[in-house]
Amino acid sequence: MSTNNNNSLINLQHVVKRYPMGNTTFTALEDITLSIGKGEFTGIVGPSGSGKTTLLNIIGSLDSPSEGSAEVLGQFIENLSHKEAARLRNHHLGFIFQTYNLLPVYTVFENVEFPLLLLGLSSDDRKKMVMEALEWVGLTDKVKSKPAQLSGGESQRVAIARAVVKKPALVLADEPTANLDAENSHNILRAMVRLNQELGTTYLFSTHDEKVINYLRRKITLLDGKIVSDETMTPQGRLT
Ligand SMILES: Nc1ncnc2c1ncn2[C@@H]1O[C@H](COP(=O)(O)OP(=O)(O)OP(=O)(O)O)[C@@H](O)[C@H]1O
Ligand SMILES: [Mg+2]
Repeated sequence: MSTNNNNSLINLQHVVKRYPMGNTTFTALEDITLSIGKGEFTGIVGPSGSGKTTLLNIIGSLDSPSEGSAEVLGQFIENLSHKEAARLRNHHLGFIFQTYNLLPVYTVFENVEFPLLLLGLSSDDRKKMVMEALEWVGLTDKVKSKPAQLSGGESQRVAIARAVVKKPALVLADEPTANLDAENSHNILRAMVRLNQELGTTYLFSTHDEKVINYLRRKITLLDGKIVSDETMTPQGRLT
């Protein structure tokens, strides 16, 4: 049961993450307390090694906190079995990674359809949802292409379509523009802003990229595993 009465989708209380390092441990996250509400468009920034991916992985139930509690969509990550965590991810979370992670032997259509196969939907429903997601990202002309035939920007747009096709409550994007040029970065950011506004999907990014930061409504800065600032932003959109 949730103890979380406010409108938050993510509620972290004193989260610590330690990794074993020889005879000692390395503290990647230290006492993170943070709440993120429905419909936010928020980024976690900070230098390399500051803990951004570690934090996203815990929120995405891919990893568990060493101490503290991480409540995501009413479930406590630290208490979930592997099966329960997989269920949370399959039904409610979308992931976008820096390196796209598309399946090379499958077409664009099949890559985007993949998360829907885990939900037991009919083939007609799946087709409708996949085509809708490809429309959102402007790739309906590439349904039959394989990932190797796509540009980096197109590949990342397929990855976005795959992340949003089931209309998840929360999309976690770890450096989604790291491999893209300016034009493609702006295109995918505009696609995500639109989905955030039209579907009410909550977005949480990790990024170093000033272009991404210009689209954020909230910016949380990590340094050495600690939150050092948490700012409300006025999105500027495209500046460059
Ligand atoms: N599995 C692991 N075992 C040991 N240490 C780890 C592990 N994963 C991450 N770390 C360490 O934790 C710290 C935070 O790593 P993390 O990947 O979260 O950083 P980041 O902010 O995402 O960096 P980047 O911007 O380079 O992606 C780093 O010092 C890293 O070496
Ligand atoms: Mg990282």
